[in-house]
Amino acid sequence: MIIGVPKEIKNNENRVALTPAGAKELTKRGHQVYVQATAGLGSGFSDEQYVEAGAKTLPTIEETYEIAEMIIKVKEPIEPEYKLIKKDQLVFTYFHFASHEPLTRAMMESGAVCLAYETVEKPDRSLPLLVPMSEVAGRMSIQEGAKYLEKPMGGRGILLGGVPGVRPAKVLILGGGVVGTNAAKMAAGLGADVTIMDVNLSRLRYLDDVMPANVNTFMSNEYNIRELIATHDLIVGAVLIPGAKAPHLITKDMLKEMTPGTVLVDVAVDQGGCIETCKPTTHQDPTYVIDDILHYCVANMPGAVPYTSTLALTNATLPYAIQLADKGWQKACTENRELLLGLNVVNGDIVYEGVAKAFGLPFSPAEKYL
Ligand SMILES: NC(=O)c1ccc[n+]([C@@H]2O[C@H](COP(=O)([O-])OP(=O)(O)OC[C@H]3O[C@@H](n4cnc5c(N)ncnc54)[C@H](O)[C@@H]3O)[C@@H](O)[C@H]2O)c1
Repeated sequence: MIIGVPKEIKNNENRVALTPAGAKELTKRGHQVYVQATAGLGSGFSDEQYVEAGAKTLPTIEETYEIAEMIIKVKEPIEPEYKLIKKDQLVFTYFHFASHEPLTRAMMESGAVCLAYETVEKPDRSLPLLVPMSEVAGRMSIQEGAKYLEKPMGGRGILLGGVPGVRPAKVLILGGGVVGTNAAKMAAGLGADVTIMDVNLSRLRYLDDVMPANVNTFMSNEYNIRELIATHDLIVGAVLIPGAKAPHLITKDMLKEMTPGTVLVDVAVDQGGCIETCKPTTHQDPTYVIDDILHYCVANMPGAVPYTSTLALTNATLPYAIQLADKGWQKACTENRELLLGLNVVNGDIVYEGVAKAFGLPFSPAEKYL
């Protein structure tokens, strides 16, 4: 198969979808890999390393899309890329369709086969291609939150762990999945007073078992959230309803109940955000203030640590990319239900129910294309 790896063009996105090690795995199976020149540079990989691994480089993004039967990338295509995507081309990347109607419509019009990292699902319902980036974003949420709690950064001037004789900061984490657990580990390690909320009681039981003593669990509902927000210094949004928009657990009116200088880090921004006042920001301009509450809502947090993120992501995506390349998407999806669940848009049809529901558009089962 001919595989294209374009350079990411989203603001401050330095990750790349394939490492030289991944290129070697694909080329040794007889596939042709074309990497856009300098695509790996932001993650520390030179063009020469890809060439040594058996790949070829192409000077432009247009040539990379033009030649490829399968495009592997990291972030969802942005507007200048829409017109480069061709009918029947397989595009394997994060899409997050449910929060982006123009992208959904553009991909329907392209006639491409869109296999979304975020909905590839294992039999135990875990999302293997979301996990590595959630691990990174969860850990980063505390690093960023701690930074913005500093006075010169707009926060209340609180040190996350406190010091002997001074109480630590209070951290509230909404959602105890991968992001929430990694955030809790980091915050607890720094000595903060941490509470994780979730709607899943079994998950809360598990977290209560494995987390250190400075982490408490609490059932997530509006009443309990209102009770806690006034006293917490850093609030991390980490909920997910797979394939659907995030529910607004913190509404605009709740900001008035918080202490001025509270920091909100809404990691779920890529699914629309679980804080009503959240709107996507970039690493260049990551924060804004509403009602004296500092919001950090960067939609591609792992993009700031591309070295760690590229290795973490490709560790997880490469085995699936190899199956798609070896067998073609129809056979690979027929034989592996995890990949089948990744199909979101095929030949103009929406084949993932959550996406169709999000926009009131018709849904067609993916099986009809196998
Ligand atoms: N901004 C970024 O750069 C970035 C990076 C990675 C992941 N994310 C996003 O972070 C979010 C969380 O991802 P994850 O991997 O932790 O998902 P996950 O599925 O592992 O965890 C989500 C958790 O949310 C819980 N939940 C659902 N409804 C809830 C509610 N009403 N109240 C409290 N908890 C609730 C679920 O029970 C689950 O435990 C996703 O939207 C994901 O796309 C963003």
